[in-house]
Amino acid sequence: MDTGTVSALEFEGVSYQYPVEDFDIVDDLSFRVAPGSFHCIVGVSGCGKSTIFRMTNGLLKPKRGIIQVGGQPVEGRKGYCGYMPQKDLLFPWRPVWENVALPLEVKGGLSKAQRREAALAALEDVGLAGCGDKMPHELSGGMRQRAAFARTMLTGSDLLLLDEPFSALDFLTRLSMQEWLLDQWQKHKKTILFITHDVEEALFLSQSVLVVESTPIHVLSDVPVPAPVPRDRSCLKDPAMVELKERLITLLRKQVEA
Ligand SMILES: Nc1ncnc2c1ncn2[C@@H]1O[C@H](COP(=O)(O)OP(=O)(O)O)[C@@H](O)[C@H]1O
Ligand SMILES: [Mg+2]
Repeated sequence: MDTGTVSALEFEGVSYQYPVEDFDIVDDLSFRVAPGSFHCIVGVSGCGKSTIFRMTNGLLKPKRGIIQVGGQPVEGRKGYCGYMPQKDLLFPWRPVWENVALPLEVKGGLSKAQRREAALAALEDVGLAGCGDKMPHELSGGMRQRAAFARTMLTGSDLLLLDEPFSALDFLTRLSMQEWLLDQWQKHKKTILFITHDVEEALFLSQSVLVVESTPIHVLSDVPVPAPVPRDRSCLKDPAMVELKERLITLLRKQVEA
């Protein structure tokens, strides 16, 4: 989070209530995120993390409050953030490059050849050179998530919202995808918000972790991560990191038991 004037993302007194519920799941929430930073949002399942993303990307409209991206309210805007849901949602009947080129198709203005060229470049960038003409089912889980990430990058937005993107992957693939994502972040200098319920994943990726301590969500507690950037996995063994991990797990478990 930051104290500067223009934030990558700012919530100001934001509330949201699902029509079928009788309470605000997000209740007068304010927070801001500095441009170029990487934060994970952690919280127990069902606490409202994805709801925060759905309001940010305009899928849900807040009941109260203002959401700003790059200093401008999001209402009525398009293409101001890239969003990657938990499931990769690649269309199975489209070749990989046509899935990746989707944001360009939506935006319009480019020929098919130009879209293909941009998609193949984006695929190469995520380590999937030569995969453009494959069908999604021909890729492994990790490759599909990288293709979905390439598609998110092609929105051209500076703010990326990644909702549990690696949770369906096996453990070892998840570890290499985390390292890969940190490399992508350093290379492209985007602002990344990443939802996870995996505390270790949050500590490895974040500059500071935004913790949902209770539902309804009134605040996101900003917990700095005591490890340098760039980082490698060995930092997770530092006593300060081990201690913080235990503290966060205890905090989240209290809510599961509550
Ligand atoms: N479409 C919906 N209609 C009604 N309630 C919903 C809907 N989506 C989610 N909820 C409720 O809001 C809560 C938060 O959902 P969500 O933001 O998806 O949680 P999280 O991402 O933290 O797991 C859930 O516990 C669920 O009961
Ligand atoms: Mg969710």
